[in-house]
Order: sequence, then C-alpha cells, then structure tokens
Amino acid sequence: YINFYTNSTALVKDVLSQYNEKKEKYGDSEIGKGKNVVIDYSAPNIAKPFHIGHLRSTVIGGALYNVYKFLDFNVTGVNHLGDYGTQFGKLIEGYKMWGDEYDIDSNPIDELTKIYIRINELCKQDENVLENCRNNFKKLEDKDPYCVEIWERFRKLSLKEFQRVYDMLGSTFDSWNGESFYSDKMQEVVEILEKSGRLVESEGARVVELENMAPCIIEKTNGSTTYATRDLAAILYRARNYNFDKALYVTSYEQVLHFKQVFEVAKLLGIDKKYTDGLEHVAFGMVRLKEGKMSTRKGNFVKVNDLLNESVSKVEEIMSTRDIENKKEIAKKVGIGAVVFNNLCENRVKDQVFDLNQALNFNGETGPYIQYICVRANSVLEKAGYIPAAEDIDTKELQGEDAINILNLIYKFQETLISVAEKDEPSILTRYLIDLAKSFSVFYNNNKIMSDDKKVQDARLYLTYMVRTVLETGLNLLGIEVPEKM
Ligand code: ARG
Repeated sequence: YINFYTNSTALVKDVLSQYNEKKEKYGDSEIGKGKNVVIDYSAPNIAKPFHIGHLRSTVIGGALYNVYKFLDFNVTGVNHLGDYGTQFGKLIEGYKMWGDEYDIDSNPIDELTKIYIRINELCKQDENVLENCRNNFKKLEDKDPYCVEIWERFRKLSLKEFQRVYDMLGSTFDSWNGESFYSDKMQEVVEILEKSGRLVESEGARVVELENMAPCIIEKTNGSTTYATRDLAAILYRARNYNFDKALYVTSYEQVLHFKQVFEVAKLLGIDKKYTDGLEHVAFGMVRLKEGKMSTRKGNFVKVNDLLNESVSKVEEIMSTRDIENKKEIAKKVGIGAVVFNNLCENRVKDQVFDLNQALNFNGETGPYIQYICVRANSVLEKAGYIPAAEDIDTKELQGEDAINILNLIYKFQETLISVAEKDEPSILTRYLIDLAKSFSVFYNNNKIMSDDKKVQDARLYLTYMVRTVLETGLNLLGIEVPEKM
C-alpha cells in the first residue's frame, strides 16, 4: 500500500469521518468474509512443563486469532495438545517402577517431569527398559486398560495445571483435539499412502521418501505411529470439518523440517489443492532466558506460571508508592500485558532473550508504556468530561505537524491489521502501537489539550479520543487489557 496525502485537510477529513463511522470498531474489515482459518497454537505436552516456547506460541497464535476475527475471517483456534506419543510409554514405565515415590496429585507436572528425567536416564543405560517404554506406547495405542487409565490421569492433571496459565493470559480455544484425538484416524492415512504407492519399507519402519529432505516416518519399526502421522490425520480432519482456506501452525522453527515433510506428504492424501496450498508453518524464534536454553530433559526449565506471577509482583512493587485503587487488578493487567507484548514485539523468526526488567520498562518500547499512554489519554478525556462530536471538529485545528503524524498513523490502522494477517506477523501491530503511542506523547508534550479556545480544545480532545480507542483496540487484539489507572 502506498498512501500519501499532499493535502492534509483531506487527510484530516477522511480520518475523522471514517473514524466517526466505526468508532470502537475502527480498523475492522470484511476482507475475511466467507473465509475459514484454522490456527493451531499453544499445544503444550501432557506431563511436561508448559515452557516459554509454548507461551510464545499461545501469545502469537492468540494475537493472530483476534486479528483474523476482527477482519471477519471465520477462525477456529485449535489446541493440538501433545497428549500422545512415545514419551507416554516412558512415563508409564517410570510410573510403574516408582509411582508411589512421587506426589503426583498435588504437583503433577513437577513430579511427572522428575519421573520423566529419571526414566530417560535409565533408558540411556538399559536398552531393555527403552524397549519396554516403546512397547508401552504401542499398548496405549492398542487400548490396554492399564496404560489408558494412567494416561488419562496424567492428561487430566496436566490440563488442570495448564488452565492456570490460560486463565492468566485469557486464552480460549474452540477445539482441544490433541494428538490422541487422531488415534483412530491414522489408519486411513496409512491406507491412502499405501494406495499412493509412496509408502515404503525402510529399516523396518514405513516411510515416505521425499526429495531434498529426510523421509517422513509414518510407522515406526514396532508399528506405532508418529507425530507426523497424527499431523497428517489432523490435516484430513481439518480439511473435512473446517473447510479451511488457511491452516496455520504456530511453533518454534525447530519444527521447520517436520512441517515441510508433513505438508509435502499431505499432497498425497487426495485432498483438494486448496487445502495443501493453505497449509502454513508460522515459525518463531527460540526464546532463551539469560540462564540459557531450557530443556525438559535436563530439568532447568522455568515455569510460565512463575514467570507471569513474578512479573505481576514486580509491577505491584513498582506501584506500591502510588496512590491508586485496585492495585492488584492493575498489576495483573500490566504485569501480564508486559510479558505478552514482549513476546510479540520483535519479528517472530528472531531468537529472543527474555529479560523481565526490560519487558517492564515503563519508558521503553513495551506493553506498559502503551498502556500508560492509553491511561493518560483516558484521564485527559475524563478531566474534560465530554467527547466532542466529530461533525463539530474544525479540521484546520489539526494541521500541525504533531497532529498530522498521529492522523497518518490512525489512517493506516486497518492496513496495518491486514498486513499482520497477510504476513502472520503480530510485530507489525506492536511496532505500529509503539509509533502511535510515541507520536501522541510528542503531541501531548507540545500542545496543551485543554484550551480557552473551544475549537482548539475540541479538535485536540477528539484526536485524543481516537488515539485512545486505536491503542486500546490494538492492545486488546494482542491479548492485552488496559487498566483504568496506572
Ligand atoms: N506439542 C508440540 C510441541 O510442544 C506442538 C504441536 C504443534 N502442532 C502440531 N499440529 N504439530 O512442540
């Protein structure tokens, strides 16, 4: 898009009337009408920690979900839980051996992780144990009652713990169909691939050979299925049930090869080209804490729950000297918003080092900064006690450079959201909000909003009102709430 105005009066008029028409809905669009988008995001693994990679997926996927919806797409958010796979064979084996040593009910993820680490160690030393683990998963797939019972218990306890994170973030999903949902749907995939003639034996396993990349394993040596087989079954299911135009997968770029393979093999499933063309891996960079990369197996992970709580209590500390009500509520919005914004503010493929202090810097390019500008705009409007009517605004009063900068940005709000969806890149919106907040801050410092001249005051108040709405809409689309006061 290239939009430029040689005539600033036209710009002011245009923005005012477009804004006045939509008000709180300003920026929305109908470009998505009649189009279906499936977004596969969050997807933590049962009995394993919800790590900051999952946080990033949850936050990016959630933001995309909201933006697509705002643009009138019909969106289905799927939490493709990692609730199946060989790790359950390991966990079941570990649980069988040492189950009573651990208090799984009161602290499921921590305790199950300990078991997982311990059994992994043992597997390294003892081939037989590893073999038992593999067989356990096969038994689970064959619906062995004992294995199913333990698995169900792990799943339920883990979901309860994940829900605490989702509650803090305000995340919701339209479907919780995880990998296990496809346990009875993979046979069809295998049959279709058999018929295609592309499923071949390789070292005892069954694979699809691919050009320029490693083969995609469909069945392991012992006949059990793989992560890829489940994703293929999910593509079939989603094509049939959601008739998607676009199906997005939000995970770290560690899974680039996995999705390349799966998307290639999907072309053999006999579904319309529309579907295979619509598959898209929305990859993001690795998140590292200053301590280094987090790994479940080594056990040096940070719990997202703790991270969010720490952020909230740091904000409480910062605000402890301020004289405002509902500090707890505010600290929650600011603390969690800071983490969310930080996860979105850089180009998603970039690796990130997470630094809480930086995320919480009220003067930096952060969530709290934008929230603060929003609150400031709100208090101006509150003090004025009224919002002037758009028709009464004298466009001549908004011709100054500072006002024009703001109006140019407000004018671009919708196209910004459209490019977020086109590129599946929420950082386009975070950048935009920072620019808008900064330009309002400049305007606010250079121009007195309350004035003896009613015409000047009305124009500036209306500008403030537009900025406030656009900032709030933008933050909400990212999954961030705006506090009343700060
Ligand atoms: N559970 C996986 C993980 O933690 C992510 C799943 C992503 N979605 C998918 N359809 N493969 O890495």
